[in-house]
Amino acid sequence: MADLSTDFLGIRSPNPFWLASAPPTDKQYNVERAFKAGWGGVVWKTLGEDPNVVNVNGPRYGAVHSNDRRLIALNNIELITDRPLEVNLREIAEVKKNWPDRALVVSLMVPCEEKNWKSIVPLVEATGADGIELNFGCPHGMSERGMGSAVGQVPEYIEMVTRWCKQTTRMPVIVKLTPNITDIRYPARAAKAGGGDAVSLINTVSSIMSIDLDNFAPTPTIDGKGSHGGMCGPAVKPMALNMVAEIARDAATRGLPISGIGGVTTWRDAAEFIALGCVTVQVCTAAMTYGFKIVEEMIDGLSDWMDRKGYRTIEDFRGRAVPNVTDWQYLNLNYVTKARIDQDLCIKCGRCHIACEDTSHQAITSMLDGVRHFEVIDEECVGCNLCVNVCPIDNCITMERISGVDPRTKRPIDPGYANWTTHPNNPASVKVAAE
Ligand SMILES: Cc1cc2nc3c(=O)[nH]c(=O)nc-3n(C[C@H](O)[C@H](O)[C@H](O)COP(=O)(O)O)c2cc1C
Ligand code: SF4
Ligand code: SF4
Repeated sequence: MADLSTDFLGIRSPNPFWLASAPPTDKQYNVERAFKAGWGGVVWKTLGEDPNVVNVNGPRYGAVHSNDRRLIALNNIELITDRPLEVNLREIAEVKKNWPDRALVVSLMVPCEEKNWKSIVPLVEATGADGIELNFGCPHGMSERGMGSAVGQVPEYIEMVTRWCKQTTRMPVIVKLTPNITDIRYPARAAKAGGGDAVSLINTVSSIMSIDLDNFAPTPTIDGKGSHGGMCGPAVKPMALNMVAEIARDAATRGLPISGIGGVTTWRDAAEFIALGCVTVQVCTAAMTYGFKIVEEMIDGLSDWMDRKGYRTIEDFRGRAVPNVTDWQYLNLNYVTKARIDQDLCIKCGRCHIACEDTSHQAITSMLDGVRHFEVIDEECVGCNLCVNVCPIDNCITMERISGVDPRTKRPIDPGYANWTTHPNNPASVKVAAE
């Protein structure tokens, strides 16, 4: 059976599945039940200074559902822990003592002053916790007070606070990044420059989930008003994967350990983050939706897949997808595909035809001899893949690589590799050729 254990900055855990800093990790009762269920580690709900913050007493969550009421995205306006610091620290020490084989990292957020950070870090160190995670990501409430993403959006602040923490502690320092920024590479570089041992990402995405059209206010609505919140869940996974990939392949941060966060719901999601270089993954929404036991499916699924693939350890496939993430300009322009419809699977709903006819390349028939019939016209198909994505039947439409002559362009397909950098239509490549 595959060995799922991980070593993240010297912090060992029996599997890569950690609970992210959030309500599932805000007290000893929760964390110990999570460990019993099998979670490899937790990042404790963000601690701040006393007096503790105060949350709204009205609704704090909003959501986007699929038509079958599956939770696609969750949004919240919750702040950091609203329990006294002393209570949290006492419980953290007890949990670490009771569960020495699990990872216990503590998330922190205090005002952006040297004395504040240098005062709280030793208190955490005294609990025996394995590490700290700096919450530079929370996009609501705390950011209005100059903390959270207000720090995470300024690389100079990230570097400065990270350095203060590194000067103060023996513990590994993980810098948790906000996705509410144009280019994730800059904050990641700053975390590294400040001496940060790792980054974790993403925190939540700034969002208004919906407007209630009866009282014209954002949801969740507190006495007629709403405020933007932080979005997470399956919908944010693509953004998170992209940001992780950017950091993994940036020359300045390549090799910087990463804990991947954002929409991890199944073992497959976790494997994707790990394939992009993450050592561990963190989970919040899936645990809040399905409960702590969901980790059992994650562990079994990942382990079975690794066995099937012959991977003995996480390291055997970690980072394997990074070299395959490239810039558009390096994609092979000689790779020609056409859509193929499996007539046995087709239920003749016509979605592919409408999509291609109205918004793509008029490359799918709708009738043959007066009967509904959907077939690809190779002379028109540009291989865009839209029909595959709108078809309601799995694997009914597939993309097939062709060779020989492309029926659309009537030109022979070069079997070699050629990209935009050398294409004759590229003004830059023409210039190079002319020089
Ligand atoms: C209700 C709620 C509270 C959260 N509180 C914190 C927090 O205190 N500190 C923090 O770093 N992240 C916090 N997060 C963000 C999560 O740790 C995580 O980064 C985010 O939810 C993305 O992961 P997911 O898609 O698995 O939920 C919170 C998320 C939710 C839903
Ligand atoms: S791949 Fe694109 S162009 Fe080709 S049939 Fe499908 S939608 Fe039309
Ligand atoms: S969308 Fe799929 S099922 Fe519907 S007609 Fe097209 S190929 Fe058939």
